[in-house]
Amino acid sequence: MNIAVLPGDGIGKEIVAETLRVLGRLGLRFEFEEAPVGGAGYEESGHPLPEKTLALAQRADAILFGAVGAPRYDTLESAKRPEQAILGLRKELGLFANLRPVQVYAELADASSLRPEVVAGLDILIVRELTGDIYFGQPKGIRQHDSGGREGFDTMRYTEAEIRRIAKVGFEAARKRGKKVCSVDKANVLETSRLWREVMTAEGKKHPDVELSHMYVDNCAMQLVRDPRQFDVIVTGNMFGDILSDEASMLTGSIGMLPSASLDANSKGLYEPIHGSAPDIAGRGVANPLATILSAALMLRHSLGQPAAALRLEAAVKNTLRDGYRTVDIYTAGVGTKCRRVSTAEMASAVAERL
Ligand code: IPM
Ligand code: MG
Repeated sequence: MNIAVLPGDGIGKEIVAETLRVLGRLGLRFEFEEAPVGGAGYEESGHPLPEKTLALAQRADAILFGAVGAPRYDTLESAKRPEQAILGLRKELGLFANLRPVQVYAELADASSLRPEVVAGLDILIVRELTGDIYFGQPKGIRQHDSGGREGFDTMRYTEAEIRRIAKVGFEAARKRGKKVCSVDKANVLETSRLWREVMTAEGKKHPDVELSHMYVDNCAMQLVRDPRQFDVIVTGNMFGDILSDEASMLTGSIGMLPSASLDANSKGLYEPIHGSAPDIAGRGVANPLATILSAALMLRHSLGQPAAALRLEAAVKNTLRDGYRTVDIYTAGVGTKCRRVSTAEMASAVAERL
């Protein structure tokens, strides 16, 4: 199992290093090969996604990705910004299906910004389309008007084929879970969304065992905090999925808990926490490594054909939380006297011991 390891910037380096240490305890054979990406790629070669990094990602069986970005790159032109690395990898590798499971661990229901009784037992899967939409639609740019003043523009677009293939991923996933798909769009305003809804409906007819509903994105943003347990699988476009998944992450108590998988048509994938590089806490050893460790579990399941190892890793994370280990983002003072505040390395060690 050849794994491309792309730690990136900020806390990306710390959480990926700890995750490799935990993976080493599974008793499986991995070949890890590391390469710079994001700001680290820019420093080394002048580009956030160096050619050798892309080549490594292309030939690996799976990619473990940390996070990219730092304030000092904010003034770079858009093509050189660290974010281009992840957008480039998604596009170049055709990683169109982004799975973002949102689960509330019983032990962490108190860390949620919602009341525990609203989120207890929550288990949603957000299926976000990842290579289309306003992120990649052409034309885009900033242009000068003859009459003076500039205009910025982006293009939201989806082809039927792109909608159909993400719809399939959503329905197939729902089949293995709660058998409900909620398709999220803005069909009352956007043409792209009208086509989206048409194709989702057609695809829904081919999956009669799954209940399909449609929801406008603004309503979905509201329903996620009103009654999040009404959802099973949410299928949506790139932009709406980006926003809704950040919102949903807080239901779990911390964005530091959420893993993700980005898959191509053959289940090759890139695995990354949904949080960013957190420059404010980088280098202090306090970042929560669990989102990356859980991303590695998704990698074992979806790309490496090791579902039993994935379950073992997920069980070890649950037991670590049960035993009271908390990084600062999920530590609630006064709740559960047996909880201990621990560092990144201590958290990973606790998971490794439980494996
Ligand atoms: C995410 C991130 C990225 C996105 C950024 C870093 C380009 O927010 O993975 O959700 O917008 O997709
Ligand atoms: Mg995002």
